[in-house]
Amino acid sequence: MGLRHLILLLLAGFCGVVVEGKFEVQCYLPGWTLNNGMYNPFKVADINPYGPCDIIVYAFFNVNQTRISPPDGNKYRGHFAQLYSLKEINPELKLVLSVGGWNNSDEFVAMAKNGASRSLFAASIVADLRKWSFDGVDIDWEYPEPENAQDYLSLLQDLKAAIVADAERTKRPRLILTAAVGNTVRPGYKAAEMAKYLDCINVMTYDYHGMWGAELLKTGSNAGFPDVEKSMLDWIAAGVPRESLSMGLAFYGRTWTLSTPEVENRTERVGNSALGVGTGGFLTHENGTLSYGEICSGLKAGWTRKMDPVTHTPYAFFGNQWVSYDDSQSLEKKVQWAQNNRLQGVFIWHIGSDDLQGYCGPKFPLLKSVSEILGRPNVIPTLPPKPVAPPYVKPVAPVVASASAKTGLSQLQLFMVPSLIVIPFFLKL
Ligand SMILES: *[C@@H]1O[C@H](CO)[C@@H](O)[C@H](O)[C@H]1NC(C)=O
Ligand SMILES: *[C@@H]1O[C@H](CO)[C@@H](O)[C@H](O)[C@H]1NC(C)=O
Ligand SMILES: *[C@@H]1O[C@H](CO)[C@@H](O)[C@H](O)[C@H]1NC(C)=O
Ligand SMILES: *[C@@H]1O[C@H](CO)[C@@H](O)[C@H](O)[C@H]1NC(C)=O
Repeated sequence: MGLRHLILLLLAGFCGVVVEGKFEVQCYLPGWTLNNGMYNPFKVADINPYGPCDIIVYAFFNVNQTRISPPDGNKYRGHFAQLYSLKEINPELKLVLSVGGWNNSDEFVAMAKNGASRSLFAASIVADLRKWSFDGVDIDWEYPEPENAQDYLSLLQDLKAAIVADAERTKRPRLILTAAVGNTVRPGYKAAEMAKYLDCINVMTYDYHGMWGAELLKTGSNAGFPDVEKSMLDWIAAGVPRESLSMGLAFYGRTWTLSTPEVENRTERVGNSALGVGTGGFLTHENGTLSYGEICSGLKAGWTRKMDPVTHTPYAFFGNQWVSYDDSQSLEKKVQWAQNNRLQGVFIWHIGSDDLQGYCGPKFPLLKSVSEILGRPNVIPTLPPKPVAPPYVKPVAPVVASASAKTGLSQLQLFMVPSLIVIPFFLKL
């Protein structure tokens, strides 16, 4: 075995080197966006296993003392079985489980405080990942405070040790270890040291402007330049190698209600004054946020789209409603920045906010545009795939009534309902 082979072997399994030198795309998939009945019966099986995603990151499991546990009872079993089916079609696809998230990070603090609970946690995660045939874990602690900095680092170190020991013991490819981090290098991060243990650091380059404090009273860009660029450069300056960094791509927008009611003479540009957050959408029902599926539905129903020349991100408005978001044009600019700056890749937050049902045209327009930007074929090859090793027992999917059975609507009605919902939503503005 030559040195080159040795190096390849050592690197095998590293994020970014799943295929050596490949610009990699991680796609977050929140469990709560799946199987939501009538307006959004999105299933894992709808995802193209030969789409742009090299890694699907299922979000989130909770920290539960020294273990992880699913937030949604047994629903995850069905999701995992379906995810594994994608892997049967494309054995190159990797599955990573994300732990924590915005709502479930407090439990990290106590668990990471002492070595014994960290070790139990690390061992249980490795055992769970192997049981479920996942390829890795993503730690999404939002956010370690300065007093947690050493505990956070020790947690990553202990996870990495458990992962390396597992690979030696089982002779199987080593599990992937990633972390999602904030868009500023907080004092809670010992950045250069974190990079020693992590295969990839996912910088959440979005939510720069939105529903927080004074931001409420002025429209802003959710994920514009130069904010995005500055964050990535800050992480590089903090000592993280470029090839360990992934840049976030937002598949959603932040919204505002403009303060000037009269449309006639208003400027709708970024930085215009606002009363507060915008009204929630017909799919996600969350004030201040719209999914891309909702935004493109709005554009179809008559919203005006403009490109902001400063932030290189689009915004759109209708009546007093205003949204800053990303589309194929701004995503292309970001992917190119990541490529030109030799980053490890990009990650998508999140698949579940694309146009999943094809309200605006073919389904998954943003995922498809990422494939196009990267020149990926997006088609399933005709050769039969090699079987996935090692043998795996699929989790048994719990029986779930289909959306149409639940609502009593026919398939045709299912696809008509959204337009009935869209119209009142946009008319009432
Ligand atoms: C923690 O795990 C226990 C036992 O499995 C479970 O009953 C409980 O619901 C879990 N808590 C959370 C917050 O997930
Ligand atoms: C997170 O918590 C907020 C309230 O703070 C809630 O509105 C939201 O639905 C939660 N998100 C998830 C995914 O549980
Ligand atoms: C809009 O601008 C025009 C011309 O400057 C002015 O005549 C009109 O009164 C303005 N309308 C409002 C509602 O301010
Ligand atoms: C969203 O905003 C509307 C209008 O201001 C309000 O009535 C509603 O309670 C808000 N919903 C949530 C979940 O905050």
